Amino acid sequence: MPQALPEWLSPEDVGHLQRLMGSWGMLADLCFADLLLLVPTSEEDPSVFRIVGQMRPTTNPTLYREDMLGRTYEETDRPLVARSWQLGAIVEGEMQQVGAERARVQCIPVRHGGRMLAVLTRESAPTVGRRQGELEAVYVDTFDRFARMIVNGEFPFDTAEDSAAAEAPRVGDGVVLVDGRGRIEYASPNAVSALHRMGVHSNVAGARLDELGLEVTSTERALQTAMPVTEEVERRPDLIVVIRVIPLLEEGRPSGAVALMRDVTDLRRRDRLLISKDATIREVHHRVKNNLQTISSLLRLQGRRLGSDEGRTALQEAERRIRSIALVHEILSRDPGDQVAFGEIVRSLVHMAEDAAASFDRPVAIQVSGDPGEVPADVATPLAVVMAELLQNAVEHAFVDGSDPGAEARRVALDFANDGSELRVTVIDNGVGLPEGFDVARTTSLGLSLVRDLVTGQLQGEIGMAGTDGTRVSLRVPLPEPQKIG
Ligand SMILES: Nc1ncnc2c1ncn2[C@@H]1O[C@H](COP(=O)(O)OP(=O)(O)O)[C@@H](O)[C@H]1O
Ligand SMILES: [Mg+2]
Repeated sequence: MPQALPEWLSPEDVGHLQRLMGSWGMLADLCFADLLLLVPTSEEDPSVFRIVGQMRPTTNPTLYREDMLGRTYEETDRPLVARSWQLGAIVEGEMQQVGAERARVQCIPVRHGGRMLAVLTRESAPTVGRRQGELEAVYVDTFDRFARMIVNGEFPFDTAEDSAAAEAPRVGDGVVLVDGRGRIEYASPNAVSALHRMGVHSNVAGARLDELGLEVTSTERALQTAMPVTEEVERRPDLIVVIRVIPLLEEGRPSGAVALMRDVTDLRRRDRLLISKDATIREVHHRVKNNLQTISSLLRLQGRRLGSDEGRTALQEAERRIRSIALVHEILSRDPGDQVAFGEIVRSLVHMAEDAAASFDRPVAIQVSGDPGEVPADVATPLAVVMAELLQNAVEHAFVDGSDPGAEARRVALDFANDGSELRVTVIDNGVGLPEGFDVARTTSLGLSLVRDLVTGQLQGEIGMAGTDGTRVSLRVPLPEPQKIG
């Protein structure tokens, strides 16, 4: 936000001006006027002033539709600013701007640590702020108190507190003005409504916020510490109000405070809804995982009872496929992003295949090289099913009696290369090789038909299989750009 600030300002000076600009939305609203912040381009020769900040009021139309940042003025263009700088005091007057109507201008020197840093101007059409009603009178009077604090170097406060937070209450949300003992001098209509919602129906004038049955300690703390305090007050059944209290100082001592209050119930309700949605999604993932586990153990139990070898094998295969899907599901649900690191899935699939090899009494250590990198979540599941089938085939069919090179020499190797737009995978074994005349495009056996259809259909990729001198399967899978949500 801040325009390049002149170099002569120290980092502390810059911090002070930035804090001022961080909280000056409130000031503009209180005085119903545009605020500009001007800094001389040179400290020794303060004859040219540059606009380094601009704030429009939300309580009144702006005087400046255009962006004023970066404009510079000679002393003679803006004599009031120059005079205010020279005197180190508030200067008021009128200004005729080329092509614009006359404007009322108040120039407020900005001091910090006894030094002058800038001039804050408050500019409005001449009719603005001519005390129309109580609210206007109180707001403008409050602004004047802030203006004196700015001149004295007492505002903004030297705290890192983030008053520009998105939910920080604004003047339009509701203003309560209290005196030096915390007694309410004025409450704006919106503040009265907020207090009503909090269950306060009596006339609030003269009372302290903590006497109204509200557990509000922020006014007291702000008056005691002479520092702004923000607190969130919760009222049953479900009302949440943020109160920000800014003490008004006179010669360093709080002579009162401004409390801005905002009903954030709807905001908080939305936050809570989001959190509970998250929890629901996690719960659903959990149930899906449990259900998949239940299905796979049902198949296992049923398979054990079957007399026919064929039936038993079929159920074992089905159980294995479900287990590999459950595994991918678990990994996907743990990290519910658009992209998933496929390496972790590969590690688990390799484990499963090694276990299967051991159960055939033909143990094999499967080697993995290259990095599969990240793949979109909807590529991960079909690809994992494909990998599981290929690994299973290698450990199941490659090393059959007669052409088994022996435990030490069995080799199954996986290799990955991911260039961001395409993933290449090879699965190689040094076993018996594929049957004579095998053609992956025409095979009708279940496992490889699944593999082929997933790769060429769902994944829009290519598959090649060569079966002399062991078996070599190569896949090319295009990786679509992750879909951006929102
Ligand atoms: N890595 C391999 N080494 C040797 N033969 C293989 C290999 N992969 C597949 N095969 C052969 O291809 C056939 C079809 O495989 P697949 O469709 O997975 O069915 P299944 O594994 O149920 O037999 C297998 O029965 C096997 O003869
Ligand atoms: Mg198979």
